[in-house]
Amino acid sequence: MNALAATSRNFRQAARLLGLDSKLEKSLLIPFREIKVECTIPKDDGTLASFVGFRVQHDNARGPMKGGIRYHPEVDPDEVNALAQLMTWKTAVAAVPYGGAKGGIGCSPDELSRSELERLTRVFTQKIHDLIGTHTDIPAPDMGTNAQTMAWIFDEYSKFHGHSPAVVTGKPIDLGGSLGRDAATGRGVLYATEALLAEYGKSISGSTFVIQGFGNVGSWAAQLIHEKGGKVIALGDVTGSIRNKAGLDIPALMKHRNEGGHMKNFHGGEVIDSSELLVHECDVLIPCALGGVLNRENAPDVKAKFVIEAANHPTDPEADEILTKKGVIVLPDIYANSGGVVVSYFEWVQNIQGFMWDEEKVNMELHKYMNSAFQHLKAMCKLHDCNLRMGAFTLGVNRVARATLLRGWEA
Ligand SMILES: NC(=O)c1ccc[n+]([C@@H]2O[C@H](COP(=O)([O-])OP(=O)(O)OC[C@H]3O[C@@H](n4cnc5c(N)ncnc54)[C@H](O)[C@@H]3O)[C@@H](O)[C@H]2O)c1
Repeated sequence: MNALAATSRNFRQAARLLGLDSKLEKSLLIPFREIKVECTIPKDDGTLASFVGFRVQHDNARGPMKGGIRYHPEVDPDEVNALAQLMTWKTAVAAVPYGGAKGGIGCSPDELSRSELERLTRVFTQKIHDLIGTHTDIPAPDMGTNAQTMAWIFDEYSKFHGHSPAVVTGKPIDLGGSLGRDAATGRGVLYATEALLAEYGKSISGSTFVIQGFGNVGSWAAQLIHEKGGKVIALGDVTGSIRNKAGLDIPALMKHRNEGGHMKNFHGGEVIDSSELLVHECDVLIPCALGGVLNRENAPDVKAKFVIEAANHPTDPEADEILTKKGVIVLPDIYANSGGVVVSYFEWVQNIQGFMWDEEKVNMELHKYMNSAFQHLKAMCKLHDCNLRMGAFTLGVNRVARATLLRGWEA
């Protein structure tokens, strides 16, 4: 099942639990606007190249739409649609005053020079500048894009609309980015895991962890869990997987990776086959890499008691059913990885206020948002007698439906 089908299925299940009016249900599923633009740029060798850019704006009942822009050869309109919808529910679960959007350009960023990427980003911004904005739709980085991409969008947009740092988040600190944004998703994963474990009388320090992915989210999550006394006993990325029953030395592994080292060459762990990683014995499994990694083939063998979905959509619906039957507790992505969008919201607030917060305040506020969302999610589980995924979806969908009804949607 692809991401759009799975997201829409979860939405419909939540709509049924909430007893939503069928017309409202249909309306909430249809995106507000789908934009497709052609971006032609001169390449460094003087030839012309054309790329297709997308932006799907899903819903704005609760505020300006918010979501990343990815540069990837397989940017697919269906997937962008699913991710835009997911952002609508995610921002509602996090209780930040945003709707949902997502975008991308079908390109291979690794095959483009820096100046070609800059031209492409500027042309894309020229094509969509009237449709995004501080109070309309606020892009952020995603796969294949980064703080520099956001700096170019901010600069190009400001040529049309005047100085507008709040039009994008995930900017470099020198241009109004927020302290703590880099670590925010991983830190949010830590806070979400702490909140869940506490429900079962457990804590980070007494638990063992397996983590897939050692990029932005995975490395911060691993580092923060390690600092809290958690034992990361196995870890893998695209270069391989390793384990150490006594717990991996995460700061040493970070240093190794930052120096260009591969997992397999790290001396503090024993190399394992990557297929063993997700089914390795542990208390908590945290997928922080790709979507769909837990599927019907490996789900029956998962030994973790808890799965924290730090990646987007790591568990396919068949695996979800298998894990539920086995009694594995799955903390869903629309809550577990929402730390990034929460701190993006703080960045937007700081830009609008023209006042920069210190990192301590950012982390303290993030903690409050993650804890509060968890309490509300739990209350929905109790109310609807459902699992955490449906608790999150009913929480998000209900908030968006209420805002839609209050604004009046049929006139
Ligand atoms: N960065 C954020 O703020 C953020 C926010 C919400 C959700 N997410 C989601 O979290 C996930 C990770 O994002 P990121 O920003 O850390 O990306 P990243 O590109 O920084 O890191 C990705 C990691 O996954 C690993 N990986 C790639 N292919 C793999 C494979 N086949 N097997 C094992 N590992 C593999 C890479 O080696 C790398 O360590 C994605 O699903 C993303 O959508 C990220």
